[in-house]
Amino acid sequence: ESNLLGIDIGGTKCAVIYGVQKNENLMLVDKKRFATTNVDETIETILSGIEEIMKIHGLTSLNTKAIGISCGGPLDSHKGVILSPPNLPGWDNIPIVSIVEKRVGIKATLQNDANACALAEWKLGAGKGTKNMVFLTFGTGLGAGLILNGMLYSGTNDNAGELGHIRMAEFGPVGYGKRGSLEGFASGGGIAQLAKMFISEKLQKGEKVPWCTLQELDQVTAQKVAEEAIKGDELARSIYETSAIYLGKGLSIVIDLLNPEVIVVGGIYSRNREMMESVVQKIIKREALSNSSRVCIIKPAALEEHIGDYAALSIVFT
Ligand code: BGC
Ligand code: NA
Repeated sequence: ESNLLGIDIGGTKCAVIYGVQKNENLMLVDKKRFATTNVDETIETILSGIEEIMKIHGLTSLNTKAIGISCGGPLDSHKGVILSPPNLPGWDNIPIVSIVEKRVGIKATLQNDANACALAEWKLGAGKGTKNMVFLTFGTGLGAGLILNGMLYSGTNDNAGELGHIRMAEFGPVGYGKRGSLEGFASGGGIAQLAKMFISEKLQKGEKVPWCTLQELDQVTAQKVAEEAIKGDELARSIYETSAIYLGKGLSIVIDLLNPEVIVVGGIYSRNREMMESVVQKIIKREALSNSSRVCIIKPAALEEHIGDYAALSIVFT
C-alpha cells in the first residue's frame, strides 16, 4: 500500500489529489480544487493545498511515495519544466518539479496531461489490458497520449501526440495560432468558434437564432451549444456534427498511422457521444484503411468525471 499525491494543472482549474495504491487498484481519497489564475498565485495555492492535504491525512515525506504533476504541453518531462502551453498563457519555462520538490520534500514527476490521461485509462479504465491504445483529451485543448507496445511513447523530446496542432483545413476555427487545426475543430474553444461562425452567417442572412443574438455571440460556449443541440436545435446539432467530422478525420489519421486496438476519447466527445459517435464512425469508415479500422474500437473515457485526478496519480502509479 502506498500514498500518492497528484497535481493537475489545467487552463481553468487546478487540483491537488491524494490517492492510495493497493496492488493494481488506485483509490481516490481526497481532493482540493482551485481556479487557475496567474502563475505565482496558482503555484502558491497548489503548494499550500498539498501541505494542507498532507497535514489532514498525516502524510510526510517518509510515508508518501511520489507526486505526479499533470499539465498541458509543450513541456519537458525530463527536466520537469512547463515550456509554453497554449492553454496556459504566461506559464513559460516554469521549473515546476524543482519548485514542488524543494517545498514539499517528495520526489515529483511532470507529465503531459494527455499522456497522463492515457496512462490512467490504460491502467485503470477503458484501455485496460490493451497493448496499443491512444487517448484523446477533447477538452480545453486537444492532446493525445500514446501507449505503444505496452509503453507510453513520448517521442524524442516529449512532443509525441501533439495531434491537436495538425492542420486539417485552410479554413475554420483557430487553435494555437493555426487556423483549421484539429484543436480548432475539436476542442471546447473550437466549438465556440465554430458556433460564432455558423450563427453570424445565419444572422447576416437575416435569419434568427432563437438562443443567440448578435450581442450574445461572444459569450457562446460549447456547453451552451450542446444544451441547444440536445433540445433538438438544428443549427446547434450541425455545429457538433462539423466538430465530429473533423474529429473523425483526425482519428482516421491516428488509425492509419498507429493501427491501435482502442482509441479512448474523453471530454466533450465522452459527454456528447449520442450526437457525435455515428458521424465519427461514418468518417472513419470512409477515411481510414479498413484493415486497421475494423480492429480499432473508439471508446469514451471510462474515468471521465475523475479522469484528471486519476491521471495525475497515474504518473507515479507503478
Ligand atoms: C497541448 C497539449 C495538451 C492538450 C490538452 C494542447 O493544446 O498542445 O500538450 O495535451 O492541449 O490540454
Ligand atoms: Na501528449
